[in-house]
Amino acid sequence: MKHLLKMSDLSKEELYELLDLADQLKKEVKNGEFKPYLKNKTLGLIFQKSSTRTRVSFEVGMQQLGGYPLFLNANDMQIGRGEPIKDTARVLSRYLDGIMIRTYGQDEVDDFAKYGSIPIINGLTEYAHPCQILADLMTIREIKGKLEGLKMCYIGDGNNMANSLIVGALTAGMSISVATPKGYEPAEDVIKEASKNPGFELVNDPEVAAKNADVVVTDVWASMGDESQAEERMKVFQGTYQVNDKIMELANTNAMVLHCLPAHREEEITEKVFEAHADEIFEEAENRLHAQKAVLVKLLG
Ligand code: CP
Ligand code: NVA
Repeated sequence: MKHLLKMSDLSKEELYELLDLADQLKKEVKNGEFKPYLKNKTLGLIFQKSSTRTRVSFEVGMQQLGGYPLFLNANDMQIGRGEPIKDTARVLSRYLDGIMIRTYGQDEVDDFAKYGSIPIINGLTEYAHPCQILADLMTIREIKGKLEGLKMCYIGDGNNMANSLIVGALTAGMSISVATPKGYEPAEDVIKEASKNPGFELVNDPEVAAKNADVVVTDVWASMGDESQAEERMKVFQGTYQVNDKIMELANTNAMVLHCLPAHREEEITEKVFEAHADEIFEEAENRLHAQKAVLVKLLG
């Protein structure tokens, strides 16, 4: 494992190794142990888009590991004025020990990995959100005691979260049923690969997807970068692609609910379902910290 660019970079073995390490690091911190696994290491955090969780959890995580995080707003860098990624990557590789990037195109993250010589971590692109999915799987295993054999259901836009959840769930040995409107399906390559697995189902009806689910997941209808389509998307998704009481009745008793946040109440999830599952959702948010620390230790340690 050299980089974390997308979920398919991880074998099942590597995925479980990361989850085990994340559990261990979480335990250590809860016991007040802050071991300097990354003493004197520096991580650059390049943000082209807004963030609360990703920025704070990476900065705090790096500090807890004895290293140093460097927040870099892409718009303040020469990259924002057109300096090529292949030059930026080669320069930053000489100062830093690793880079996390949040940007638009997956090709930008892939180029950093191609031209740089240090580990690259995808902190969200339009295609993937692997750090979030590691936290999600960690949370499910923590609450349900296992991943293998559980059914996940994802309702909403076939976006970065959908793409990465499909790959992550199937790699972990879960099944996953995804419901999106027509025209808002996950990425073609993800569907093609997932379709080889009998545990994958793609439908348009959320009530079909939710049946007997152990974990129900949703995300915003219009992601960062989709702002100009927000109104149009509202019309398409509203009234159907929502996690609500009816969906939860179709899911298994004691089904969990996850949301990567930020959440939009009464849009993709009702206030009632959100608050009934707030403990799970905020544990998921906390687990971003522990899961990413595991990634950092593996890649930079
Ligand atoms: N879930 C997530 O990535 O949150 P931020 O956009 O706040 O980083
Ligand atoms: N799909 C959302 C996730 C935010 C964490 C987005 O890309 O905006």
